[in-house]
Amino acid sequence: MRVLDFLVKKDELGATRLGESSPQPIGEGQIRLRVEKFALTANNITYAAFGEAMHYWGFYPAEAGWGRIPVWGFASVIESRCPGIEPGERFYGYYPMSNEGVLQPKRLSPTGFMEGAEHRATLHAVYNNYVRCVTDPFHDPKTEDAEAILRPLYTTSWLIDDFMADNDFFGATAAGTGLVMLSSASSKTAYGTAFQLARRMGIELVGLTSAANVAFCESLGCYRRVLAYDQLARLDRDAASIYIDFAGNASLRRTIHGHCANLKFSSSIGGTHVEQLGGARNLPGPRPVLFFAPAQIKKRSTEWGAEVLGQRLLESWREFIRITCRPTDPWLLIEHHRGADAVTAAYARVLSGRDDPRRGRMLSLVEPAA
Ligand SMILES: NC(=O)c1ccc[n+]([C@@H]2O[C@H](COP(=O)([O-])OP(=O)(O)OC[C@H]3O[C@@H](n4cnc5c(N)ncnc54)[C@H](OP(=O)(O)O)[C@@H]3O)[C@@H](O)[C@H]2O)c1
Repeated sequence: MRVLDFLVKKDELGATRLGESSPQPIGEGQIRLRVEKFALTANNITYAAFGEAMHYWGFYPAEAGWGRIPVWGFASVIESRCPGIEPGERFYGYYPMSNEGVLQPKRLSPTGFMEGAEHRATLHAVYNNYVRCVTDPFHDPKTEDAEAILRPLYTTSWLIDDFMADNDFFGATAAGTGLVMLSSASSKTAYGTAFQLARRMGIELVGLTSAANVAFCESLGCYRRVLAYDQLARLDRDAASIYIDFAGNASLRRTIHGHCANLKFSSSIGGTHVEQLGGARNLPGPRPVLFFAPAQIKKRSTEWGAEVLGQRLLESWREFIRITCRPTDPWLLIEHHRGADAVTAAYARVLSGRDDPRRGRMLSLVEPAA
């Protein structure tokens, strides 16, 4: 089997090529996995856009100037020199855009392992956790494509909602209804957040999106109002408000901060608008605060205990996946892209930002058996 790596030029994300090499022997304690399939959304493009600053290129190093974007997906063990892990076992986790990966498991347990390679020791633990499919309560083989696409996103969505409620919406709901605005409202992470927030009292949820995605956002049924980016003047200037920013668009942020005179909190979550990212210097209103999901996990683990936190998230996840995969009129339409050409085309589409927000893209570089 050849090793195929989808490589992206670090300083020009539109430039890609396929790397080909021979498999290297694995060392003592290592496993080789076939990366069966993985999801690609704007979240992965954000990993690439912040690849240097936030060390995302460090997970799967490549030759100078090029990077392998980390993706979430499923892989099965094809060779093991690690006692406790057998060929054939399947794991959900953070893989390269490749057809295989080599990992060095440590801290094995019935639920999975932590990646122990030295170059990943300083990278965040959340990305080093690999979960055994057979014992994973979040896993259902029937809906695993939706799981690959949504699991990391919905976990964040759920934590954002919890974080906002935990902080009493920063006073935005104190005097009645508070306005909560979400940019890139058509993104899957924004939708998951809105899905949760829509159940809270005293909130008017406003989705902000591009003109082409207004109808999709309206169809989701959780935004009270959906405005295109050129309709921001319609926002109530004096309403106590919160901005939850998935777009990272510097000029949009400036417009919102300038328009909303009673902005209580500005939360910086993502950077879907990769061409319009920028700093927040001399911004009117509150300083944007980077949302750090692991901090909320840590806080709730301490307060509730890890088991209760996991159980609450699991219940919410099951509900979200049920409506996502409902047999009639599902909001997410999954499309598969297999092989180098198909992966390249799907990547270009996701990078362009002009993809249909209803699509969930599952990719694979595994070649058919000869
Ligand atoms: N901080 C965290 O822990 C965390 C965790 C998960 C996700 N996130 C972030 O949340 C964001 C959403 O991720 P996702 O995977 O949910 O996204 P997604 O579903 O793939 O989002 C697609 C939407 O993003 C906007 N978009 C994407 N690419 C664009 C481009 N090149 N130019 C302009 N608009 C573009 C468009 O929305 P509009 O037309 O509505 O703008 C598009 O409909 C990402 O930036 C991701 O990194 C952060």
